[in-house]
Amino acid sequence: MTSRQQPKTLWLGRWGFILAATGSAVGLGNIWKFPYMTGEYGGGAFVLVYLACILAVGVPIMMVEIAFGRRGRGSPIDAIRRVAQESGRGRGWSLLGWMAMLCGFLILSFYVVVAGWAFSYLWKTVSGGLAGSSVDDMAAIFAANNANPWVLGFWSTLVTVATMFIVGTGVQKGIERSVSWMMPGMVVMLAIMIGYAVFSGGFGQGVAFLFSFDLGSLSSEGLLAALGHAFFTLSLASGAILTYGAYLPDHSSIARTTFTVAIADTLVALMAGLAIFPVIFANGMDPAAGPGLLFMSLPLAFQAMPMGMLFAAIFFLMLSMAALTSAISMIEATVAWLNESRGISRVTASWSAGLVLWTLSTLAMLSFNVGAEWTLAGMHVFDWLDYLTSRFMMPLGGLGMALMAGFVIRNAIFRSELGLSPGSYSAWLFMVRYVSPLGIVLIFIDSLGLVSLDLGRQWPWLLALLALFTLGGEWLTPRFGRQRIVQGRS
Ligand code: TRP
Repeated sequence: MTSRQQPKTLWLGRWGFILAATGSAVGLGNIWKFPYMTGEYGGGAFVLVYLACILAVGVPIMMVEIAFGRRGRGSPIDAIRRVAQESGRGRGWSLLGWMAMLCGFLILSFYVVVAGWAFSYLWKTVSGGLAGSSVDDMAAIFAANNANPWVLGFWSTLVTVATMFIVGTGVQKGIERSVSWMMPGMVVMLAIMIGYAVFSGGFGQGVAFLFSFDLGSLSSEGLLAALGHAFFTLSLASGAILTYGAYLPDHSSIARTTFTVAIADTLVALMAGLAIFPVIFANGMDPAAGPGLLFMSLPLAFQAMPMGMLFAAIFFLMLSMAALTSAISMIEATVAWLNESRGISRVTASWSAGLVLWTLSTLAMLSFNVGAEWTLAGMHVFDWLDYLTSRFMMPLGGLGMALMAGFVIRNAIFRSELGLSPGSYSAWLFMVRYVSPLGIVLIFIDSLGLVSLDLGRQWPWLLALLALFTLGGEWLTPRFGRQRIVQGRS
């Protein structure tokens, strides 16, 4: 079986994939989570480790996803099944695609609630609803926003409708067209925000905070958080990148596009830090304020500054767009699958997926008010969705895809999709076979809390483990009919 799948749709422009995938990757994770994690885990050292994780785990797995998508030309379920079959493997492997698609869907069901916060704060800055003078006032505004299910529901519904509208309009006319103005727009707004931060009076402190490397300040916890975040921020293992990869033209280089997306994603995260921390420092606030940094500390900081509300509005507009371009990518896998495999038109597929999504996201939204009592094991619907996806489905999906690419799929397939030089190909194979899986297993063990990890002291053991895995794997694989790295032939 060597005939390649014919694509039904391709990105129109040369930048189509890069803009859409960067749009997926750049989201609340970059602008909301990354800055507060950097704050919590001690600044520059965390940034450095995070960069290493992007390179060692994020980039290789992103290449796997794009290659699966482009080779199989379809939703995660169909694409993975086709690539497995091309390798002489059974249809069962498509379960991995099912999990990825479901994962994207579940993430979106609580992501729209957080995106709703961004939209509602945009409205508040414009309409003057953010008046208050203390952190307590801001906390009260945030709480009031969440306490009313109609208000909160209105915003998450708005995000859902906007998402389904864009996706329903099609890959080229909906997704590609919207990202091709939203992404440049976001970069411009971010640049304006940094310009503002330069004159805020706290810029030097902000830069020092982000870029001063004090390795002593890095905890083992920070290390694992960086690893987990590398996964989240690149939108991996949730069907988004894989499905976008299905629309990538044959001649595009997967390695080059992956690096472009990873670099752009990282730059935006750092730029967001440069926009936020100076303003926080200029007002003598705590950079380690946690999740409330964006919705409580920041509005208060802006208020105290000249033309602060205008810049706060720009900031929340940028945040809303970042969330929207991520949201559309999370549901695209489901819509593509309904459209292709079930023969449902894109528009119908989009609105019916949207309806299911809306039901689930409403349950998540109610966690903050009416459903405050609906808990299981102490967690709300919202927490459960987050927990299941980020602690289980994403790591397991990523692990599955890495191992599948490394050991199960015929080497010739990835070799031809990736088009790397023999040396780079071997490096990639080494990463997906051993380094990424080991990293994921570590995140997993840590999040289950079974063993207490202290990587600062245990790193020699880890290196030994990696060596053991590598030697064992390289010894075992030829005996199961797949090639070893060193042979490099397909
Ligand atoms: N990368 C997104 C962010 O940084 C979040 C995200 C995680 C995501 N998984 C995804 C986005 C899947 C789209 C699809 O905010």
